[in-house]
Amino acid sequence: MKPKILVTRETFDDVLDYLTGHFEVSSNQSDTPMDSHILVKNLADKSGVMTTMMDRVDAALLSNCPALKAVCNIAVGFNNIDIEACSRAGVMATNTPGVLDDSTADFTWALILATARRVVESDSHLRSGQWKGWYLKQFLGIDVHHATLGILGFGRIGSKVARRALGFDMTVLYHNTRQADPDLERACNATFVSKEELLERSDILTLHLPYSPSTHHIIGSSELAGMKTGSILINAARGGVVDDTALVEALTSGRLAGAGLDVFENEPALNPALISMKNVVLTPHIASSSAATRHAMAMLAARNLVAALTTGKPPNLINKAEGGRRKAEGKDQGRDQRCN
Ligand code: GLV
Repeated sequence: MKPKILVTRETFDDVLDYLTGHFEVSSNQSDTPMDSHILVKNLADKSGVMTTMMDRVDAALLSNCPALKAVCNIAVGFNNIDIEACSRAGVMATNTPGVLDDSTADFTWALILATARRVVESDSHLRSGQWKGWYLKQFLGIDVHHATLGILGFGRIGSKVARRALGFDMTVLYHNTRQADPDLERACNATFVSKEELLERSDILTLHLPYSPSTHHIIGSSELAGMKTGSILINAARGGVVDDTALVEALTSGRLAGAGLDVFENEPALNPALISMKNVVLTPHIASSSAATRHAMAMLAARNLVAALTTGKPPNLINKAEGGRRKAEGKDQGRDQRCN
């Protein structure tokens, strides 16, 4: 008899076919979001689950799902999963690192350019019939070329954002828990500085670190006050690393000239003040969403699930197997900023 698994949200047909070759699959192809009550009900007899970041996997859920052996997240971030609770319950947890780095770095640049050059605001102006022709001071933006780009979190995605800055002749500064390898610094033309210096000197500050208790509000009111006046903040990493209330204040006071945001505290809700701000570009957590990358993420999560339930050795295991029980690799996901 094949093991039973659940796919919590709609996925690609070939991913489903691949899973069906190994498992008895229940899938939510109608894509109706499942609250924790429905999720627990659907997981009662399942050995594995392919989750998205909208699914919360915590100790309460795990205690009601005794058959569960593997939770395979379709995301590189895994702050929706209580890794220690998984380890205590002997449940393998996996993520999808690597396959989304380039698409996320590309999208970060889409936010940088759209925010600095006021692309969305001017598009709305034109579409709403307000354009009366060219004039000198129309939609004056901020130059990206030759500006100073600050990168907080210099892992796979942060360093790819830096590489893309080479064509814009920028000064690139970064801060990370660990200084990067000199070869990588040279390849990206990036200089390691303290967090304070990064905030003070960056014309554009972009965040590339995972959410964890140690990165909660890593950009809060005092950090925003330390940022260069008239600078831009970009967040395509995770909601919660920025204090959105403090950000609204910094945008209102003019400390920041603008922000490009793909992620928010309490998604899918967002601070309503952001909606009416013309100097803010808002996108619904789509940084990794090219057709090829979202497919690669889903397929990698499926491969993790097949490997977990057949060999016990999924390629992207977050928590380690140890004497039949799996122990968390580190108590603090935020310690390794490279994971995003
Ligand atoms: C997207 O936000 C991811 O973590 O993969």
